[in-house]
Amino acid sequence: MFRKLIATAALCVLSVHAWSADMANGQQINKSCALCHGAYGQGASGKLSPRIAGLPREYIVKAMKDYVAGTRTYPLMVRTSQIDKFTERDFEDVAAYLSSLDLSSDQMFNINKSFGDDKAGKDIYRADCKNCHNNDGYGKPSKDAPPLAGQHPEYLYTTMRGFAEGHRIHANDKEDDTFSDYKDNDFINLAAYLSTLDDVKVAQGYQFSPPMYRPSFARPSHDLSDSIQITDITQTVVRMALDEGVTTEKAEEAMLAKAEEIGLKKVGQQKVSQFLSKQDVKMPHLSIFQFCNPLDARMMVIADPVFSSYMPCRISMVEDANGKLWLMMLNLDMLINSKLLPASVVETAVKVNQQMLDVMTAGASGKL
Ligand code: HEC
Ligand code: HEC
Repeated sequence: MFRKLIATAALCVLSVHAWSADMANGQQINKSCALCHGAYGQGASGKLSPRIAGLPREYIVKAMKDYVAGTRTYPLMVRTSQIDKFTERDFEDVAAYLSSLDLSSDQMFNINKSFGDDKAGKDIYRADCKNCHNNDGYGKPSKDAPPLAGQHPEYLYTTMRGFAEGHRIHANDKEDDTFSDYKDNDFINLAAYLSTLDDVKVAQGYQFSPPMYRPSFARPSHDLSDSIQITDITQTVVRMALDEGVTTEKAEEAMLAKAEEIGLKKVGQQKVSQFLSKQDVKMPHLSIFQFCNPLDARMMVIADPVFSSYMPCRISMVEDANGKLWLMMLNLDMLINSKLLPASVVETAVKVNQQMLDVMTAGASGKL
């Protein structure tokens, strides 16, 4: 329990610290990184995709720039994510976002011990590495030395061999000879030892849940810009058109999958037009989805029972006169910005609003 509290506190500090960056932009850019590094930057064991979540922001920025400059070589990454076209802000934003993702307390992301003699690896580490990478393996910013704990051992092994063979410069020093005398077994044992270091951070029962940042309306995210509108009549509704080729079934499937992924419960669904068509009454498509997170609902009604009238959150899927399909929901931004909300529930309201927007976005694009 205590560990869990510490982990949560650490997360809060990190996210507050990171606010100077545009986290919504970072979150958006990360979608292209996710292709190889995973949705949360968790990386993949067995392959060469390193974990980048939770690395220091300066290190992430430097590494990306090293790949652009050719100091480190992985052309596929530069090409796929077009990081050579990034602005300074883009580097900073995506690094701040990834850096804020702390997976280390969640058992699911724990690095499994790799084969090899971890005791022997520990001896080498204590003698030759801890000065810069720290006693616990979590790095020393003052030495620009990144964490090695929590990194996938296959990547560490390959990287260390790369240092020895001169494919990559270690410690930013062309003359560095840390690895030149080691044998293959030493690399295996070092990787085995390093793979055990993140175990201390696991907090039983703690589950990582990704933060959701909502794009500020001054800077809409790229996939929403054409289809999201706030109607000027009442400003009470947010709506998004379904993308070309997205069927009602596909939109529904994507919305439900997204809701489940982010822990929103589907508590109801009315297939209005389908119901009426069974009685031979024709109408444009209309179905209504209801979502709720019981703990958030609890928080809101404790603050003021009046909020129960906004529950559960609804998204409707509706066809207009031209046969175009839309997703619509109440614009909670209006409420959030109205100053009617007590401070104690603003954070929850912002989160719920963002979650609903995420569900809508998934539905509109037909993709998770
Ligand atoms: C095509 C797959 C791919 C994509 C897309 C990709 N990466 Fe990578 N990335 C890799 C691989 C593989 C490596 C390890 C390469 C090496 O051995 O140096 C890597 C290395 C890195 C590293 C260095 C990690 C370390 O521990 O030193 C960072 C930081 C990084 N990527 C960030 C990003 C970011 C940010 C994005 C999105 C803007 C991105 N990558 C997109 C595959 C990819
Ligand atoms: C003089 C300080 C120093 C010492 C001693 C040192 N390192 Fe490093 N190490 C660094 C720095 C700085 C970097 C980051 C280099 C960069 O930005 O590319 C680094 C990078 C690494 C990386 C790459 C991490 C990644 O995510 O790509 C590995 C692996 C590594 N060191 C392992 C070791 C091991 C194992 C030892 C001991 C045998 C060791 N280092 C000793 C400073 C040091």
